[in-house]
Amino acid sequence: MNTLILYATHHGAARKIAKLIAQELPEAIVKDIEDGEPHLAAYDCVILGSSLEAGQIRRPLKRFISRHQDELLDKRLGLFLSGLSETGENKYFSDNFPPQLLEAAVVKQMLGGVYNPQVCSLAERIIMRLVAGCKSYVSTVNHQRIAAFADALKEK
Ligand SMILES: Cc1cc2nc3c(=O)[nH]c(=O)nc-3n(C[C@H](O)[C@H](O)[C@H](O)COP(=O)(O)O)c2cc1C
Repeated sequence: MNTLILYATHHGAARKIAKLIAQELPEAIVKDIEDGEPHLAAYDCVILGSSLEAGQIRRPLKRFISRHQDELLDKRLGLFLSGLSETGENKYFSDNFPPQLLEAAVVKQMLGGVYNPQVCSLAERIIMRLVAGCKSYVSTVNHQRIAAFADALKEK
């Protein structure tokens, strides 16, 4: 099965997760949405993933989804989010993806996140301290969930 993992990241966590998914799906191609829009026709399975900021996925991925929704509905589809919150998963998905896509997805999950103050701006560090109580590096990237996510997309 030809698989594309298309991610949108700010500081690299969603890229890291995309690559961990690819380790479980060795034939998968991993692409950053910032490197240009891929041709979906080449793929049977498409995995879309983005980090969250203030509850929103990154804009280039949002635009890509609205432009290619019909084509995406024909694919074996997986959706992932990278965030630090352990609650509100359903709302994050429903706020960011069209209902048809959510219904069509074989699997959709939050797979954890990374906060690295060394790569964040001062404003981001202040927000993370005030809103999430994060003061230092934290990673909640969930390897078990990633393996289960990839497994759900494998042809059985
Ligand atoms: C300004 C800011 C806002 C954030 N908002 C959310 C949020 O609404 N929900 C959440 O779960 N995580 C939130 N996070 C955490 C990021 O989603 C998390 O660190 C993610 O792994 C970053 O991925 P990236 O490095 O691919 O951009 C926020 C982080 C920052 C810096």
